[in-house]
Amino acid sequence: MAPYIFKILRFNPKADPMPYFQEYNVELEPSDSVLEGILKIQDEIDPSLAFRYSCRGAVCGSCAVVINGKFNLACRSLVKNVKTEEIVLEPLPNLEIVKDLIVDLQPFWKAYEKIRPYLIPKVIPEKENLVSPKEERAIDNFINCILCACCYGSCPVVTRDEKYLGPAALAKLFRFAGDIRDKGHTDVLDEIDIESGTWGCDTVFKCVDACPKKVRPTDGIEALRRKTVLRKSKRLIGVK
Ligand code: SF4
Ligand code: F3S
Repeated sequence: MAPYIFKILRFNPKADPMPYFQEYNVELEPSDSVLEGILKIQDEIDPSLAFRYSCRGAVCGSCAVVINGKFNLACRSLVKNVKTEEIVLEPLPNLEIVKDLIVDLQPFWKAYEKIRPYLIPKVIPEKENLVSPKEERAIDNFINCILCACCYGSCPVVTRDEKYLGPAALAKLFRFAGDIRDKGHTDVLDEIDIESGTWGCDTVFKCVDACPKKVRPTDGIEALRRKTVLRKSKRLIGVK
């Protein structure tokens, strides 16, 4: 066991005038995760500390936070890998704080809902509809998204434009629009052919840096742009 200092942003909008940092000293094994540290603080020191988690295995995305300035999942960040004396924890930016490390994800889910995140098949197949490895590779990276919202929290366009759909929703749209079995999500592509959709991204790659699952949302957005331009060009010259 070794001593660790956790400095956690606390804020209850119903009771506190301003957010503030609270320090906790906690003994942990170096191989423990940041999430285990938070759970220990809640169990043994301060039951009022609020945070969200579920799977503890980097699959559900619920425990996304900012750890010493970097976006990550608390469950997959080991305390021994945080290379400073203090482990500073803050909630995801760009989303309202509900309490402490819990943010209101409604804007993130509303953007996700807009892209209709499901396969719209070209034909209803009579048997298994196989995809070749090459076709799968084109969308594979975007399938890995676990909807943790780290990218949404990191994006400067979301900060200045609350209508912007954000990196996760747009990358997930390409996961379906680029799927050979899908109709191409053409209605959605037309609906979001606007500044707060396909064209909002400033290509600053913050979302790529923030993603704990190595998804590259910027690449998905660029692919959507190419698809949209191609569709418009074909329409102009009367090709279906
Ligand atoms: Fe999280 Fe990455 Fe998906 Fe964004 S793209 S929601 S950071 S897994
Ligand atoms: Fe935002 Fe990613 Fe574009 S951070 S501006 S969506 S490159």
